[in-house]
Amino acid sequence: MSKDIVQIFDTTLRDGEQVPGCKLDMDQKLVIAERLDLLGVNIIEAGFPVSSPGDFKSVEAIAKLVKNATVCGLTRAVRKDIEVAAEALKHAKTPRIHTGIGTSDSHIKYKFNSNRDAIIERAVAAVSYAKTFVEDVEFYAEDAGRTDNEFLARVCEAVIKAGATVLNIPDTTGYCLPEEYGGKIKYLKENVKGIEKAILSCHCHNDLGLATANSIAGVMNGARQIECTINGIGERAGNTSLEEVVMIMRQHPDLNLDTTINSKLLYDTSKMVSNKMGMMVQPNKAIVGANAFAHSSGIHQDGVIKNRETYEIMDPSDVGVTESSIVLTARSGRAALAYRAKIVGYELTKTQLDTVYEEFLAYADSKKEVKDEDIHQIVETSKIDLQRIS
Ligand code: KIV
Ligand code: ZN
Repeated sequence: MSKDIVQIFDTTLRDGEQVPGCKLDMDQKLVIAERLDLLGVNIIEAGFPVSSPGDFKSVEAIAKLVKNATVCGLTRAVRKDIEVAAEALKHAKTPRIHTGIGTSDSHIKYKFNSNRDAIIERAVAAVSYAKTFVEDVEFYAEDAGRTDNEFLARVCEAVIKAGATVLNIPDTTGYCLPEEYGGKIKYLKENVKGIEKAILSCHCHNDLGLATANSIAGVMNGARQIECTINGIGERAGNTSLEEVVMIMRQHPDLNLDTTINSKLLYDTSKMVSNKMGMMVQPNKAIVGANAFAHSSGIHQDGVIKNRETYEIMDPSDVGVTESSIVLTARSGRAALAYRAKIVGYELTKTQLDTVYEEFLAYADSKKEVKDEDIHQIVETSKIDLQRIS
């Protein structure tokens, strides 16, 4: 059975770039946009054109540059925003306007001092106006995660009638549990008239560390687009991490879902975005962190050296990491020491290994990590009669 393709909507350059202190200049944005296109994302959200002249210029330049992906610009449900976005996107091969409004009771009361019926009217007016400029209009129901499902379904039905092609259901505050978020998507699938005319999209924030789980729950319940960022960057605790959702779908064929992402470019893309934004990737970050394929405890190292699959559920080369690494620490065993010693040029017999291992443990206890250059010193200090291999 062929797999359903989940569209990857990358918002590294919009929601991701909202990280304090990580502002990108236009040249940096263009390099990243080109890379995202090469990576195989389906939609690039290039910015929020009305927010500043700089953002307008970046969206315009990205729209001219990108060859394959749809280029999208964010707006509020405000006519001026929509006009400016349409102007910035006019050279895109396939432009999309992303417009919307808050739908939770808290947004309606405190942000808009309004009521539900008036919010639906504004939503419909925004989508109808955006449709006069482009065919592809995505509607976001901000704070959908905390919006009551019945009202959310009314909003969705109304904007589909007005021509929305994609319905973004953001868990703006990262509040939902996976079951709750998945249930919301299921509810919309089952209760919104005309839902077959639009794609449901997951846009999850990571305030409780659930963005990835919620997005996956969303697609398991019928959503067919995920909005995400490289390295999961974004305001507060960030957005759904692109590399995580892509690899979850790849590693679980039973889901029958896939993406058009060339996963071999994930690691390099992660490094590129991290360097350009000056925002390091935490070492234990899934898929792209420095330790994602590093093994340091003796039991795990022994297993991985015998067969990688004992402690690795994916091949590092599938995400562009050249090899798993066996890191030597005081928790490492003989198998790991012999393995690394061989890489740096020593083929140790069992007796030699016993001697060198004693020396290694004494040395490793005083160090966080034993590097290749330290191995030479340890072997020399062990005073064994050894055969160096070339
Ligand atoms: O998190 C959110 O609700 C958003 C919308 C503006 C799409 O980023
Ligand atoms: Zn967001």
